[in-house]
Amino acid sequence: MTGDEIREVFLHFFKEKGHEVVPSSSLVPLADPTLLLTSAGMVQFKHYFTGEAIPTNPRLASCQKCFRATDIESVGNSKHLTFFEMLGNFSVGDYFKKEAITWAWEFVTQRLELPTEQLWITIFLDDDEAFGYWREVGIPKERILRFGEDDNFWGPAGETGPCGPCSEIHYDLGPGIGCGKPECGPNCECGRFIEIWNLVFTQYDQQRDGRRLPLPKPNIDTGLGLERTAAAIQGKPSVYETDLLAPLIALVSKLAGKVYGKDETTDRAIRIVAEHGRAVTFLISDGIMPSNEGRGYVLRRVLRRAALFGRKLGLEEPFLGELAQAVISQMGHLYPELVKNRDLILSLIEAEEKRFEETLSTGLAILEDGIILIRRKAVQLINDQREPLTGFARRAAKADTAEASKKVASLAADVMQPIRSKLAQMATELSLSPAAALGMQMALTDGRIYERLEKLESDLRAATKVDIAEVSKDGLQGLNEHASSISGKEVFTLHDTYGFPKELTEEIAAENGLTVDFEAFEEEMERQRERARAVQKFGFVDIATRFKLEVPATKFVGYECLRRKTQVTGLI
Ligand code: SER
Repeated sequence: MTGDEIREVFLHFFKEKGHEVVPSSSLVPLADPTLLLTSAGMVQFKHYFTGEAIPTNPRLASCQKCFRATDIESVGNSKHLTFFEMLGNFSVGDYFKKEAITWAWEFVTQRLELPTEQLWITIFLDDDEAFGYWREVGIPKERILRFGEDDNFWGPAGETGPCGPCSEIHYDLGPGIGCGKPECGPNCECGRFIEIWNLVFTQYDQQRDGRRLPLPKPNIDTGLGLERTAAAIQGKPSVYETDLLAPLIALVSKLAGKVYGKDETTDRAIRIVAEHGRAVTFLISDGIMPSNEGRGYVLRRVLRRAALFGRKLGLEEPFLGELAQAVISQMGHLYPELVKNRDLILSLIEAEEKRFEETLSTGLAILEDGIILIRRKAVQLINDQREPLTGFARRAAKADTAEASKKVASLAADVMQPIRSKLAQMATELSLSPAAALGMQMALTDGRIYERLEKLESDLRAATKVDIAEVSKDGLQGLNEHASSISGKEVFTLHDTYGFPKELTEEIAAENGLTVDFEAFEEEMERQRERARAVQKFGFVDIATRFKLEVPATKFVGYECLRRKTQVTGLI
């Protein structure tokens, strides 16, 4: 079954069960300030669940476009997508657990014909009712597992709203995939088991203060991931090999001149580019524009991440437009907004990609220069300290051992301290160029520098026979502390001046074993907002100042003409 067929069969099945098929809503939730982007099929039905509105039919079904910004960093592994399609059936105070479970099982085993022995069920801890219904459809009790709130309680979408315990169907892709550990099972992160369907028993309305109030009536909200289901049916190891995403993978591979399936790092980059290219196309088709805030920032971040990974694949020229064209041809028959907004999508992508390419080229070049410079300086610094220290240690060793030990300890501390503070000082000096400072941070974690410090330590030990390991460890730890986190100011400047999304800095930092001080970054952002607010305040020039300019009154001529040549006689 193709992805298109799964969609069709699903909606048809629930139509047969008395559901009204509703089209997907926009990725921009309508009148829902709690939510940035539509993240589930139930989003457009929230007000039915809360009782604020009443649907013409209490049974609804849809195939919903969804976007989950929380999954951006996970994209690239086998399971996660930012943009995906969610098939769902919904009951607004009509049927409840029994029908939801029975129909889900009927659909999965009889319409999709997935082998029952590969299906596993999870339920909320004490949900014996759901357990009973799953037993009734014939699932052996050892394949029904109980999990807590993290896994089997869903919602709300956003900060407040409908939520409830849930029950999931997981599909076992087989022992050939994943970690191979004996305890591997549903909810293992390794990718062997994929959650395909989530049945939420929506009973509560979560308040801003965290209280969960009972909804007027219990509801059903289900979500069957289209891409994951396609992977299960088509016998593919991941969503990227299904007919929904494989053409995009093939296109990216072709553009980059790479073969998919040979090298994990390359594959991951190809997946990221393909997935993000599709997501970006859909976001723009729903009217989102790149910007530095809100939805526009999500779009910018995803687009730039795709561009960055494209570059890692060797794609130098703008390429995302070609990917968008492919998405429009592949999915335009289902989502006409793609076709309608084709020109806008292509021109926005191209402009944004070009802009980022320029930013990135400059930024990365500065970064590389910074790394080289810092390495050289740090190595030099350590070499400078080596001679005097070993010389002194040799002399000290000739003296009384206890005395020598004390002297060497204090000397080592003395030496480590300047190294530490010199490096810190260099970071400050170089923070004029934030990218260079980032480079320095990276250089400091470079193993070669530690090697030299360790060598220094062993020379000392050999010369004095005094164990100064403790002192050196201290010194190394100090260096490490200094070097392990990128300051908020640097991240902010990279973001503000160079247009590096903070998440991208975080990703590059993490690749180099560094963390990012986001708290300080937020403080910088707040200061920036303050400055922006201050600039935005219009002021009035007081009369006295104006008179001092001695400018004669200006005659208003707007009733007679719309343009007039004139002369600037003074400026305040
Ligand atoms: N709202 C639930 C989910 O997103 C089921 O549709 O998983």
